[in-house]
Amino acid sequence: MNYISYFSNASKKQTMPFLIKTRTELGDMKTIMNLASGLPNPEFFPLREATFSLKDGKVIHVPQDLINVALQYGSPAGMPQLVDQLMTMTAELLAPPHMDGRKVLVTAGANVASYIIAQTFIDPGDYAFIPEMAYPHIHHVFKDAEARIVPVPSDDGGIRPDMLREALEKSSDGRRKLMYIVPHGDNPTGITMSENRMRELYSLACEYDFLIMEDDPYYFLQYDPQVSSSFLSLDTEGRVLRVDTFSKTIGAGVRLGYITADQPFVDKLTTMHSFIMTHASPFSQVLGLKDVTETVNVCCSKGLLFVPGCQFMVDSTQPCPYIRMSFSLITPESVDKVFQILADVIREELKRTTSGN
Ligand SMILES: Cc1ncc(COP(=O)(O)O)c(C=O)c1O
Repeated sequence: MNYISYFSNASKKQTMPFLIKTRTELGDMKTIMNLASGLPNPEFFPLREATFSLKDGKVIHVPQDLINVALQYGSPAGMPQLVDQLMTMTAELLAPPHMDGRKVLVTAGANVASYIIAQTFIDPGDYAFIPEMAYPHIHHVFKDAEARIVPVPSDDGGIRPDMLREALEKSSDGRRKLMYIVPHGDNPTGITMSENRMRELYSLACEYDFLIMEDDPYYFLQYDPQVSSSFLSLDTEGRVLRVDTFSKTIGAGVRLGYITADQPFVDKLTTMHSFIMTHASPFSQVLGLKDVTETVNVCCSKGLLFVPGCQFMVDSTQPCPYIRMSFSLITPESVDKVFQILADVIREELKRTTSGN
């Protein structure tokens, strides 16, 4: 794998800033008399210790030495202890080929991870392939990198390999850079991809030489206890950049996620990360309507809020028959009421559209 050939021109030029590089290399060497970095002196940190009580009765105690780490500047790759744990977890859960040649980069959630990936790999005019209905953030990410975004038609199993091949044939050699996929409980379609479909798409990535960004926030929220495979698990050639996040499991406010990929990719992503640092399961339903804009407006006036499908398309002004409803915040008791409102509005809307009013 010629890793450098995939990097954007901007990222090729980037080098790790001197202070961050030296701080990372020196680690916590206590003997160093550090007059270089502007690290605040831990003596003056206002916190001594912290205790978190979990709902299952467990108590997590954070002692002074860890508080000092938590309040201090750290490494752009993440806390080494956490990185090690995430590496172990990924190796056990997903068993990727050549895990010893891979690394983890801890990020402030998945969204910033996809932004970093786009900036690291995409030059203006490069092709980025996405499902025709895709998580809206990825449109912004790829637009910002000035990618040529190619929406690829899907069926019930996700992106169609025959359609992807057709799109690849139409794109020029050397400019095909990335394909974006949410493999489990996709947002907005809810689709979980079969291993066979993943294999078909992965072999196209090898044949046409592009990378796969696998954004998998819903991995742990699957109903089927038999969790299916991932692109990383199939990645013999090192072309998968896997994005995980704790937003849907621990809480979105912790802003904690991570990228797993081959080491040279992660090293470059870490440099980009040091420049950029920022900080449920979908429930979808196909209606009988050609466009749901009016349905969404009427529901909103009745106190029911959900996302019209057009928001997941590159051109959100186009009509779209889909909606996305996320049920993580409503109580089981209110479900019937919610769907009663929706059903009434759809009935009215169907009456109106079929009578031509
Ligand atoms: C597919 C997908 N990726 C990423 C995110 C956001 O993840 P994070 O909060 O970790 O940035 C979401 C949230 O809805 C999502 O649906």
